[in-house]
Amino acid sequence: MTKAPTILCVSGYFKGSRFIETCKREGCTVYLLTIEKLLKEPWPRHAIDEVWALPDFENDATLVNTVAYLARNHEIDRIAPLDDYDVERVARLREFMRVPGMGETTARYFRDKLAMRSRAEFRGLPIPRFVHVLNHARIDRFMCEVPPPWMFKPRAEASSIGIKKLSTPEEVWKVVEELGDLQSRYLLEQMIPGDVYHVDSIVSEGEVVFAEASKYKRPLFDVTHSGGIFATTLLARDDSDTIELMQFNKELVRHLGFVRGVLHTEFIKGHDEELYFLETAARVGGAHIAEMVEAATGVNLWEEWAKIEVSQGEFPYVPPTPRKDYAGLIVSLARQERPDTSAYNDPEIVWRLDKKHHVGFIVTAPTPERVEELVDAYMPRIERDFSATLPAPAKPTA
Ligand SMILES: Nc1ncnc2c1ncn2[C@@H]1O[C@H](COP(=O)(O)OP(=O)(O)OP(=O)(O)O)[C@@H](O)[C@H]1O
Ligand SMILES: [Mg+2]
Repeated sequence: MTKAPTILCVSGYFKGSRFIETCKREGCTVYLLTIEKLLKEPWPRHAIDEVWALPDFENDATLVNTVAYLARNHEIDRIAPLDDYDVERVARLREFMRVPGMGETTARYFRDKLAMRSRAEFRGLPIPRFVHVLNHARIDRFMCEVPPPWMFKPRAEASSIGIKKLSTPEEVWKVVEELGDLQSRYLLEQMIPGDVYHVDSIVSEGEVVFAEASKYKRPLFDVTHSGGIFATTLLARDDSDTIELMQFNKELVRHLGFVRGVLHTEFIKGHDEELYFLETAARVGGAHIAEMVEAATGVNLWEEWAKIEVSQGEFPYVPPTPRKDYAGLIVSLARQERPDTSAYNDPEIVWRLDKKHHVGFIVTAPTPERVEELVDAYMPRIERDFSATLPAPAKPTA
């Protein structure tokens, strides 16, 4: 291909402006297919050639027919998902349209928690023990063999939606019964108490060309289910945990067959000091993790992802040269509609969240110690000044 390709961005969520703008800067013709209720959102329309919307993305046949219909008069060289929920439907579209990029089999490893678990188990990678909610005798056997508590989780949701921590077979069977035919969309797994880490990486032609490891201050399940502050900080790059995480991340890329794109991958370090693979997603980490990584390294994961999606191995992709600073991110719900954060004025604050009923900061410093010091000091202070809690969502809020 000699001219910059035409790219169709598919998104059932309002996000990815930097991705869209980067495609345009790379010379692409950019189309956006979204859902009607998102048309009013401030998409970067200066960087989009045409926008289309469907009432929703629920029906696969409608989506395929729509894109095929548009393709009668528009050449579509690339199709890219902007949100986690779009990863699988875009993989399906690519295969149907014979457009290059990740196909359905590989995409499943990055969307379906059962698929990623089964492949990791098959390849001998450490994971929590699990069972598909399918064969009832197997579920019984699992509950006899694996001590509770267990995490009962949907195979394809995000943001801890629908995850339940259960402690007795009676509780499990009640939830299974209530789900009826939907039960096979779940898995049950061993709960591994410990710290949760994430590695955010860029992969080009099967190689990890950029990765940063961070640790959540509290596991996300606790934040979404018991409330409180979300915080995460980059780990020291020479820390032994970081080195182990980087190695594990590389192995996952290889075993899950990921070729190119960005990954947000989570791990648990159990009280036994072992690292376990928790989950992975073929997208930029949510909750402003991309801004934190950019504050520390100067690398914007959305921009790099766009460049890789455009290149598809047909054009060279040149990985970025990162800065080696550190950063931390804190986000909390706020009681106040427009919380006044002017008293938080350390020079290390490089970003503030501008969202009703929320407070959020990113701090950056040349050392991980200074970042930890700031985040640890801010957490109780934010709790006092602003915090509010809401019940965990039962279904997606998008
Ligand atoms: N097996 C497990 N052992 C211990 N904690 C777990 C386990 N599985 C999930 N959790 C907790 O639940 C949270 C969400 O789990 P997971 O990442 O699998 O789901 P998710 O819906 O993709 O969530 P999110 O989008 O919030 O990362 C984890 O961050 C962790 O706190
Ligand atoms: Mg997760």
